Amino acid sequence: MLKPIRYVLAPLHKEPTAVEFKYRGLERRVKIGYKCNPKRPIPSPHYFDPKMYKVESGKVILVVAGKGMGKTNLMRNIIQAYYRTTTNPIIVFQEKAGDLNFNRYPTLRQCMRLGIEYIRLAPPVGKNSVQRYLVPLRDKLKREEVKYKIPLCEMDYSSLEKYVSKRIGSTWAGMILERIWQNPRNIQNIHLLREAVYDELVKFEDDKLYEQMLLFLERFFQILEMDELLEVHKAVSAETIFDDQQINIVDLSDISDVEQKQFVVAQTLKMVERLYKRRECFIGITETHVYAPEAGSNPAKDAIVRLVTVLARSYGWIVFLETQSPDALERIVLENADEIYILGYIQKSKLSKLIKCSSVCFEGFVDKYYKVVEDIPKGRGIWGSVTNPTKPYLVQILRSPVG
Ligand SMILES: Nc1ncnc2c1ncn2[C@@H]1O[C@H](COP(=O)(O)OP(=O)(O)OP(=O)(O)O)[C@@H](O)[C@H]1O
Ligand SMILES: [Mg+2]
Repeated sequence: MLKPIRYVLAPLHKEPTAVEFKYRGLERRVKIGYKCNPKRPIPSPHYFDPKMYKVESGKVILVVAGKGMGKTNLMRNIIQAYYRTTTNPIIVFQEKAGDLNFNRYPTLRQCMRLGIEYIRLAPPVGKNSVQRYLVPLRDKLKREEVKYKIPLCEMDYSSLEKYVSKRIGSTWAGMILERIWQNPRNIQNIHLLREAVYDELVKFEDDKLYEQMLLFLERFFQILEMDELLEVHKAVSAETIFDDQQINIVDLSDISDVEQKQFVVAQTLKMVERLYKRRECFIGITETHVYAPEAGSNPAKDAIVRLVTVLARSYGWIVFLETQSPDALERIVLENADEIYILGYIQKSKLSKLIKCSSVCFEGFVDKYYKVVEDIPKGRGIWGSVTNPTKPYLVQILRSPVG
């Protein structure tokens, strides 16, 4: 009797023999997976290639996937690819503790089994780490972590006013503060601010509201001093907070209050814009529906809308957004997404808004996809781009070699 023939699959990658060090900005493009057109099912490599994107066309990458289907894995992949292909600043927000760590690599065994590139990211010149952890609200810092506070001198009064108290703004005291805020020298730290306020307040000594104003202002200073998210004692410039060659990770995992998180995201984005306006930049945000929800308005939503409509378009920033609930996401964000990944299986009801709003035509494609495939593995899904809006691809994202 004939023995059944046993096929031996050729290994996808050759066995790694030595670690390769990847320096910042030296590569042209980085492979992050495979893609294929369902009509011609021959997979081709899927590259992340920032040089392909023209400055005006910008890039907003939106990833939609269920829990544990590989959203963060794709983010790590794209961040390391951006690190390797450009020398622009990278700022990312981390929601879950331990999600992003670019000093973490798979073992050699995993590399061989899963076909992961066996690499190390080389730190930028003069630095001993590829990343910079910025942590608000934590007292015990580990090595490598940096306490993160929003400096007073990097804020405008209107956003601070919203944050501190809605009531102060409409009073005389609020108007005095607003006037004082116009001179950047006054807001270097809280002592200069206090001095300037009291210099101004002298004019009102005969006013019958003087006592009340004094009370308000004192309360305002107390709130500023007590708030753990604000740096009010010394003038810190944004340049010393962020490093344009390292991967800046803002860790939001310790903040439980949604409004505080939104404040940190909004202020950070404003600071980064002021600092790197004319430079291309990479911004990564996880759980985007928390910051840019459909309903209501909050400072983070305004900042994200500005990010996707102005900064990505005008200055070529790459914005990476990750969400589990595309139906809860602001419409403008969905409409402005240039590249959309839908990984794993997602209920049709959650996708309907995305399909309606996005510039890529997923109509019909998604239905057919879910009918044909079952048991979708991690990292597999659909990818569509506005450069070719009527032709979505099937993609398989590889495990990230770092992060
Ligand atoms: N493309 C992939 N190939 C193989 N394994 C993967 C892939 N993507 C993700 N995984 C595995 O799935 C796990 C979860 O992935 P990941 O953290 O990216 O999911 P997530 O969508 O961010 O989840 P969450 O919703 O919890 O944030 C990873 O630890 C990894 O082991
Ligand atoms: Mg995740």
